[in-house]
Amino acid sequence: MKWTQLIQKKVKLKFIVGLLLMVSVFSISNYLTISGKSDPVLLDEPLAVEHEQRQELEENENQSIVSEPEDKPGFYENVVTVANGDATLVLVNKNYALDPSYEPSDLVLPNVLTVGGNRNQTVYLREEAAFYLEQLFMAAHEEAGLEFLARSGYRSYDTQVALYQRYVSENGQEAADRFSARAGHSEHQTGLAIDVTADSVGGDLSILFGETPEGIWLKENAHRFGYIIRYLEGRESETGYQYEPWHIRYVGIEAATEIYENGWILEQYLEGQ
Ligand code: DAL
Ligand code: ZN
Repeated sequence: MKWTQLIQKKVKLKFIVGLLLMVSVFSISNYLTISGKSDPVLLDEPLAVEHEQRQELEENENQSIVSEPEDKPGFYENVVTVANGDATLVLVNKNYALDPSYEPSDLVLPNVLTVGGNRNQTVYLREEAAFYLEQLFMAAHEEAGLEFLARSGYRSYDTQVALYQRYVSENGQEAADRFSARAGHSEHQTGLAIDVTADSVGGDLSILFGETPEGIWLKENAHRFGYIIRYLEGRESETGYQYEPWHIRYVGIEAATEIYENGWILEQYLEGQ
């Protein structure tokens, strides 16, 4: 074979190898793009968790809307003013309201850690609820080494007026109604509800609190101290509120345990009474 033929053969071979390489690089990058593996934008974990939670929430909401009984009044329709504001099992929601003048007579400041300094003045509760909140905080510390922070307990009718108005002006009424009660309709006015959080979410009232060790412990143990997570995940069409892993309501140990074990909301428990 002449040397010129040899060079031609080598050039041909290089050309074929090069072509094959280009084809495989193109196919691999095409595969990665289609399957999304090359997406350079990675959500950080909290955002990803929140995104998944929201998707799940919306799916569950849609399911609940389908099964909604037709004769039930809509939220804020046919509102009943409750006569038993002092009862441990008082029902306060978008259809049952407390009188504007209702104020519990046995409010005390529980001895627990709070957001923004110890025993801040926003965490008053009725006596029995305060006692069991202290037990809950102590058990979380002793059994699991977890520290809760109390953030917002009793709120007067007037405080709720101001709070709701602020949320409406900041977010619009439709959005505000999904996370804030109108005055008279907030369980915070009963002195039996409190928002709790932890340093793991910077003391915020965040949906991510539900996935922290504190939030998980609360879900699994609150009933032992007479508390329930009042606004459960996936139940917005029934409770009227988005998932609030931080809002706990005192109902007494017996009711709380039955509600927890059955995966009920308070309304379901009371319907059976
Ligand atoms: N965030 C609860 C629904 C309240 O405002 O009472
Ligand atoms: Zn709350």
